[in-house]
Amino acid sequence: MRNKHTLLLRNILNDPCELECAALILKNGGLVVFPTETVYGLGANAFDEDAAASIFKAKGRPGDNPLIVHILSIKDLSTVAKNIPSSALQLFETFSPGPFTIVLAKNKAVPAIVTAGLDTVAVRIPSHPIARLLLEKSGLPIAAPSANRSGRPSPTTFDMAVMEMKGRVDAIIDGGSCEVGLESTVVSIPDEQIKILRPGAVTEEMIRVVLGSKNPLIQEASGSHAKPSSPGMKYAHYQPKAPVYLAEHWKNVKVNKLFGDRKIGVIHLSFDIPPSENREQISFSSLADYAKNLYKTLVDLDQMGVEIIIAQAVEEKGIGRAIMNRLEKASGGKTV
Ligand code: TXA
Ligand code: MG
Repeated sequence: MRNKHTLLLRNILNDPCELECAALILKNGGLVVFPTETVYGLGANAFDEDAAASIFKAKGRPGDNPLIVHILSIKDLSTVAKNIPSSALQLFETFSPGPFTIVLAKNKAVPAIVTAGLDTVAVRIPSHPIARLLLEKSGLPIAAPSANRSGRPSPTTFDMAVMEMKGRVDAIIDGGSCEVGLESTVVSIPDEQIKILRPGAVTEEMIRVVLGSKNPLIQEASGSHAKPSSPGMKYAHYQPKAPVYLAEHWKNVKVNKLFGDRKIGVIHLSFDIPPSENREQISFSSLADYAKNLYKTLVDLDQMGVEIIIAQAVEEKGIGRAIMNRLEKASGGKTV
């Protein structure tokens, strides 16, 4: 599928015609790629069954993987969800607008295709000004997965979004680089227990502070045998073309022995790597910088023609947990 004419909207914050146009496309059942504070989203009217179906087609996404529905504010929750527990409201009040999603009981106005037939719906209130303008102008809840083709790293820049979706969608909005760089934290609240289904920038530590000792917080079981309560977690994800390996330390001898003179890309925070002609090194200044630039770096390294990517493993604390979650999926657990 690569036949649509795609409008590139480069100036939406200053040009009211561009905003009008993007909102009209959504109202008419079209697809608009837009920036959020986490990653670029591939959006459609969440109440329009056919529009939602075209999201799955444009991404090549399996039909059993539900979409996140974006709304403007807490007061719009009842348009898409029902029976909202008080702990959900408390969490939304603390972390929204922002990189935070809660799975709630679905309101019947949301078509089954959006939630992949589940009776729950994942809801997020984004903070990015362009995402908010689009929600406001269209007056619609927007169903939007990340704007990558299925299995690939999520786009975090306009150029990446164009590379993934030009020819597959009606418009792509330029919002520069996404601030967070990794997808939102997803939580569910089965039986009043908060469960983190996908780690993100709103960390377990931050959620614990809000909940105090009132609600237990449980982590999604990981590993290939665990049954995921978030369908998306079972699929291969975030994978560039070159195979990714995780490394806790830089082991020069082992790397040379394993990969010989193949071209290697290294992503790291603190490795001390002897210079070599067939290596590209990208270093990050902090965990936030690592998160923000991870997907772009994976894609850049592919474009530089590296054959192997080695990424530094980080401590699974704070945003480090989200980085490791994505790297474990990108690497399929391979280490060096
Ligand atoms: O930051 C983000 O969340 C981005 C931006 C665009 O908002 N969106 C995003 O969507 O990452 P997506 O579709 O790539 O990931 C949504 C995740 C998937 O793992 C999906 O399985 C899970 O949320 N999910 C959606 N609805 C669910 C539901 N009803 N129950 C459990 N998990 C759900
Ligand atoms: Mg995704």
